[in-house]
Amino acid sequence: MDSILVTGGGELHGQIPIAGAKNACLTLMPATLLTEEPLTLTNAPRLSDIKTMNALLESLGTEVTTLQGGKVLTMSSHNLDNLTADYDIVRKMRASILVLGPMLAREGRAVVSLPGGCAIGARPVDLHLNAMEALGAEIELRDGYIHAYAPKGLQGNIIEFPFVSVGATENVLLAATLANGTTIIKNAAREPEIVDLAHCLQAMGAKIEGEGTSKITVEGVDRLHGATHPVVTDRIELGTYMLAPIFTGGEVECLGGRIELLEAFCEKLDEAGISVEQTVNGLKVKRGNSGIKAINVTTEPFPGFPTDLQAQMMAMLCTATGTSVLEEKIFENRFMHAPELSRMGAKIEVNGGTAVVTGVERLKGAPVMATDLRASVSLILAGLAAQGETLVNRVYHLDRGYERVEEKLGSCGAKIERISGK
Ligand code: UD1
Repeated sequence: MDSILVTGGGELHGQIPIAGAKNACLTLMPATLLTEEPLTLTNAPRLSDIKTMNALLESLGTEVTTLQGGKVLTMSSHNLDNLTADYDIVRKMRASILVLGPMLAREGRAVVSLPGGCAIGARPVDLHLNAMEALGAEIELRDGYIHAYAPKGLQGNIIEFPFVSVGATENVLLAATLANGTTIIKNAAREPEIVDLAHCLQAMGAKIEGEGTSKITVEGVDRLHGATHPVVTDRIELGTYMLAPIFTGGEVECLGGRIELLEAFCEKLDEAGISVEQTVNGLKVKRGNSGIKAINVTTEPFPGFPTDLQAQMMAMLCTATGTSVLEEKIFENRFMHAPELSRMGAKIEVNGGTAVVTGVERLKGAPVMATDLRASVSLILAGLAAQGETLVNRVYHLDRGYERVEEKLGSCGAKIERISGK
């Protein structure tokens, strides 16, 4: 398994191009299952999670062609010859559940392995299943698989989620496009990735209104057609690289960045004394001579502070002046990076969903373990600012969500190298 070796010290200066959003691409790809015509996605990120979704779609009968080294994906699902999403693929990636809605809507039948446990909490799929039932599907759980049937097609309905779920909103949105009648999704997720999915489905002929608000209305149509759609910018990759110069000093411009993707995050940076400038090409972040001020952060569904930037923010606050409090409201077990940061000299106390971080002057390099995707990158950022060398082990998580991290940070002057695993 590969590791990443980071040597701390040295400012970062330069530009970092931000890729298309992993989380958007993973929900856009299953939209191919809704039509016999080809769906082309441009600006796709080159990540192992995308390859996993490719493999899943291919196992169902989709033909996938990649161009420009994976940046352009064309998917053609004219003939679905298998309606079972197998455990071997689903267990690798929870987003595999997103094939359920489209398969059910088009074929009236779908079998999808239950995703199983995940390092950042229990993450059940009950909201997805209840919503499919509300759309008229019969659901049975057998042998670790979800068996879903809707022989007469799905039926539009009012679906009110008890709390906001990104994935469940996406699954219903996908399914409702081909349902009979109108579906109203209440308490819908408002993330930019949901808006991107709605725009792609609209380009395929779906009738959707209210995307980006908590009430989305979908009027089912008989068929969808092919389309070409550019994947929205990855706001989590954007936020991650915006933090890099704050750790090291210097100035980095994140190409393709827009404030409206990350307003709550930018407000927190402002509170911490860091200014963000919108340029013609993206967002520029500079760390001045004054230090970072301690701040309090609570994760929330969009437009609140994203849980996927909590680990990186915690790493930044490890060297802030004063005491910061981070509250994790989305996932119950998402502070696994805290003990790893403590190995680097951070002072963090975790109590349930709350972490109290008392700033220290400087972190010290250490061997650490990447526990999940966002935790891995938080350790790399911490390593850039630490004294000495930090070896981040088990970086396969990183490759799931960050395209060419060594190249992107290295081009701005970071001392970072990948060490191939034995
Ligand atoms: C998506 C993102 C993930 C991000 C998360 C929250 C993708 C591929 N992943 O994950 O990066 O961290 O949104 O912004 O887009 N829940 C249930 N029952 C369900 C579904 C969810 O209890 O059926 C719970 C989850 O355990 C969690 C909360 O709801 O506590 C929110 O999860 P959700 O928004 O569904 O996250 P994902 O779509 O899995």
